[in-house]
Amino acid sequence: MNEATEKKKVIFSAVKPTGALTLGSYAGALKNWIAMQNAYECFYCVADMHSITVRLTPADFRKNTIEMLAMYLALGVDPEKCTLFVQSHVPAHAELSWVLNCNTLYGEAKRMTQFKEKSKKDPDNVNVGLFDYPVLMAADILLYQAEFVPVGQDQKQHVELARNIAQRFNGRYSPTFVLPEPVMPEYGAKIYGLQDPLSKMSKSDGNPNDCVYLADDADTIMRKFKAAVTDSGTAIKYDSAAKPGVSNLLTVYSVFSGVAVEKAEKEFEGCGYAEFKKRVGEAVCEFLRPVQSEYRRLLADKAYINSVMKNGAEKASRVARRTLSKVYRKVGFIALE
Ligand code: TYM
Repeated sequence: MNEATEKKKVIFSAVKPTGALTLGSYAGALKNWIAMQNAYECFYCVADMHSITVRLTPADFRKNTIEMLAMYLALGVDPEKCTLFVQSHVPAHAELSWVLNCNTLYGEAKRMTQFKEKSKKDPDNVNVGLFDYPVLMAADILLYQAEFVPVGQDQKQHVELARNIAQRFNGRYSPTFVLPEPVMPEYGAKIYGLQDPLSKMSKSDGNPNDCVYLADDADTIMRKFKAAVTDSGTAIKYDSAAKPGVSNLLTVYSVFSGVAVEKAEKEFEGCGYAEFKKRVGEAVCEFLRPVQSEYRRLLADKAYINSVMKNGAEKASRVARRTLSKVYRKVGFIALE
């Protein structure tokens, strides 16, 4: 690390490969990841350890992990500018998470909205990992001394928990961790389903027409947008309470075309819903065309993908080990001479 990079503030973020990346993950998180690469020291990760709180077929899971990494690269996450790695390749994540478990209150973990929702959705698999998941996430963030964590709205509470855990640890021992804060886009922090514009578009559950994947082909994308639910009335105006369907589509359009929402409203003045939905679909397809061709090229280049994973794991491990050693020393573990 030279002096210039040392001064840069640190960013950490991750996506879990329980399924393929969606428009939502790009809008809420990845778009910011890419924008932040130049000005910050960024650590971006495929959070495979977070994925096994749900039951996955190992072969599909392996494929998802590689595909997610290839999609990060195709979107523009640049391993020359940031540290890009797979979580399970860096054992310090699991190691720190145990220490943090012992500095997290049962009551505060129990309050996590996502834990409550996921427990309700799959009552037969409320495993301890699902409960502990936000603590592993805190370990991810705190290992790299990240100041900013670009995420969508649903992860904000987890980043706040990471901050509380860090604060508690710093107070109990001595200043050790940087206190992280979430970074969210003004528009796109929560992209809603195309069939149900009142609930989050999600990669791992729900109706497949509700969710658009970044790897979907153009016909599928157009079909999903044409079938998107809109609202009563005819105006194409951003009003998330009165017009959740239209507002969600305007947000998607803005994220993928780069046109500000206010400008997009003007662009679509007098336009019918059918034409509007078609144009939103087209903007997404246009953005994704070069991304998908790069994605296919990268997936065929196994040697390159392996080298990215290997270099990333080495770089991330060096930084993570430094924090972990400090933590071990502070809690009183004996270092081997
Ligand atoms: P995950 O994999 O559910 O989602 C990845 C990122 O995408 C955002 N996101 C969305 N944003 C807007 N609209 C949506 N519909 C939408 N769906 C997903 C999420 O908010 C997230 O930023 N636990 C995390 C992964 C993780 C992590 C971390 C994140 C592991 N360790 C450390 C930050 C820091 C998760 O399951 O995200």
